[in-house]
Amino acid sequence: MMKKGIFLLMAPLITGILLIPAFSQEDMEVVYCGSFTNKQRPPAIFRHDEHNEKAQIEDCSECHHIYEDGQKLEDESSEDQSCAECHDEKRDGQKPGLKKAFHTNCKGCHLERKKGPVMCGTCHVRS
Ligand code: HEC
Ligand code: HEC
Ligand code: HEC
Ligand code: HEC
Repeated sequence: MMKKGIFLLMAPLITGILLIPAFSQEDMEVVYCGSFTNKQRPPAIFRHDEHNEKAQIEDCSECHHIYEDGQKLEDESSEDQSCAECHDEKRDGQKPGLKKAFHTNCKGCHLERKKGPVMCGTCHVRS
């Protein structure tokens, strides 16, 4: 009885662990952000894990950041939230609007490192 009880408690946890990878960032090929009201471009190419490995970005908060009182928190990250959960289409004070947030993050780093695509059509690739 005891054993079964523990198993029943564990079951959702185990299935949870087994199921997560199927929806995780490993399989991500593009940034598909469904929060733009009038989508004009094909979603931007972004093979999440492969990209970050090649670009040697180890800190998740490089993109998934958390700010408090205008300061980026060094030891915290927000990968459990989509960019659109914090960034509205319109800018809000220091918080850039959604499109700007993506472009500043992606293109900003590519320009800074002189690596990675910066032309519209090399990110928003028509398939
Ligand atoms: C170069 C930028 C960048 C870095 C670095 C990065 N991510 Fe992401 N990640 C993204 C973007 C962009 C999305 C899509 C967000 C959206 O849809 O709003 C995303 C989505 C995710 C998702 C959601 C996946 C899904 O399918 O919904 C998870 C989980 C995630 N990232 C985890 C991580 C972890 C863990 C790290 C650090 C090891 C990390 N990310 C580093 C850019 C990044
Ligand atoms: C938990 C909320 C939250 C999430 C999630 C979030 N942001 Fe932000 N972001 C902010 C806030 C708040 C600011 C304003 C920072 C300041 O006060 O200067 C900001 C600022 C920015 C800026 C301008 C400053 C900078 O770092 O260059 C960019 C670009 C940006 N976010 C991109 C993104 C992208 C891309 C994602 C998704 C991968 C994302 N943000 C996810 C809250 C968030
Ligand atoms: C912190 C820096 C940084 C950020 C942020 C970043 N990139 Fe990159 N990206 C790079 C570097 C560096 C390369 C070149 C990697 C190499 O080939 O050496 C690259 C390459 C790429 C490539 C070429 C193919 C590949 O995977 O190597 C694409 C496409 C790309 N980035 C898309 C994006 C998108 C979309 C975002 C925003 C969601 C983004 N990047 C954010 C640094 C960054
Ligand atoms: C480094 C990659 C990158 C480059 C270069 C880039 N974008 Fe984007 N762009 C993104 C990402 C990531 C998003 C948000 C995810 C998505 O596609 O839904 C986005 C979103 C957008 C959106 C809002 C969503 C939509 O489809 O309406 C528009 C419009 C847009 N980009 C136009 C452009 C134009 C025009 C250029 C060239 C001047 C450009 N982008 C260059 C990565 C890029």
